[in-house]
Amino acid sequence: MFPFITTKIDQQNLKTRLGNIELANPLGIPSGLDKNATSIKGLFKTGISFLELGTVTPFPQSGNDKPRLFRIASSHELINRMGLNNHGAEAIRRKLKQWSGNGIIGLSVGYNKNSNDPMQDFLHVIAECGLYADYLALNISCPNIKMDWDLSTPEKLSTLLQKISWKQKDLGFDKPLYLKLSPDYEPTQLNEIISVCLGEGVSGFIATNSTLSRPVSDNPLYQERGGLTGPYLFESSTKTLARVYAQTNGSVPIIGVGGISTTEDAYMKIKAGASALQLYTALCYQGTGLIKKIASGLSHSLEKDGFSNIAEAVGIDHRNWLD
Ligand SMILES: Cc1cc2nc3c(=O)[nH]c(=O)nc-3n(C[C@H](O)[C@H](O)[C@H](O)COP(=O)(O)O)c2cc1C
Repeated sequence: MFPFITTKIDQQNLKTRLGNIELANPLGIPSGLDKNATSIKGLFKTGISFLELGTVTPFPQSGNDKPRLFRIASSHELINRMGLNNHGAEAIRRKLKQWSGNGIIGLSVGYNKNSNDPMQDFLHVIAECGLYADYLALNISCPNIKMDWDLSTPEKLSTLLQKISWKQKDLGFDKPLYLKLSPDYEPTQLNEIISVCLGEGVSGFIATNSTLSRPVSDNPLYQERGGLTGPYLFESSTKTLARVYAQTNGSVPIIGVGGISTTEDAYMKIKAGASALQLYTALCYQGTGLIKKIASGLSHSLEKDGFSNIAEAVGIDHRNWLD
């Protein structure tokens, strides 16, 4: 899984940025692969410019019973109901303190399954680990934890974002805050969430997490509970991405994730509105060499289409994804 040779991706036309964060290239790995910050060094050897760790909760938790991860090999998809298994904020802070490389680190923040106060959980993780991250990602869209506290309602989300902003001030830092969205929101719900986020000064969005929906198929594996990732997710997550781009007029960066497994997919996400990309499921099926392959492909496609830098292509086709 982890190559010994370090892959360098340094095509000039792939250099880009997520707000104030400079990226050597637009490719990253989303949360859920290195949940405990144990593989930072190895994963950066794949050529990615940014790695999102976690999701981290205040206290360690073991997640759901096994089996909880299913391969649908025929279509290169996964269904998972891991349930935010992780070693907890304190253990992850220790790992983060040890890391001294120069890759960009995102920290995905969540809450414990048995928490009485999920808002407090987000603040706890930020207080413990936030200093060591380049950006924070709020995971309010995990399909695998009980949502007694529906943090995607406008009032709760607004309160949460205000509390995080105050907490960051108290702690003396101001890390960019990204909200990770579900591909399963109704358009009006998505609209409300984005409005609240813009009102509260969120830095950007991550579109999207896994989906609870399923393709029409008689493969019994699709009946497993959990979030589906890989090619089937591509369409709904890219539509969500384009909607966010349209509603924000491209004013905030969006990380595009969900179902990317080829250069064409990656380029489509950029043109639908993504400033940077993450991929996970395709790495499980195609290996980490895919990062370099997609980077080279993207660089060539941009050249062929007359763009001198990837930022020029962001969002140019987003209207094609709107209903
Ligand atoms: C096994 C597994 C675990 C995941 N865990 C998390 C997680 O802890 N937090 C999170 O925000 N997303 C998690 N995700 C979702 C991914 O970050 C990503 O949004 C999703 O896999 C879609 O991208 P892909 O189609 O390239 O895999 C997980 C995905 C998988 C497959």
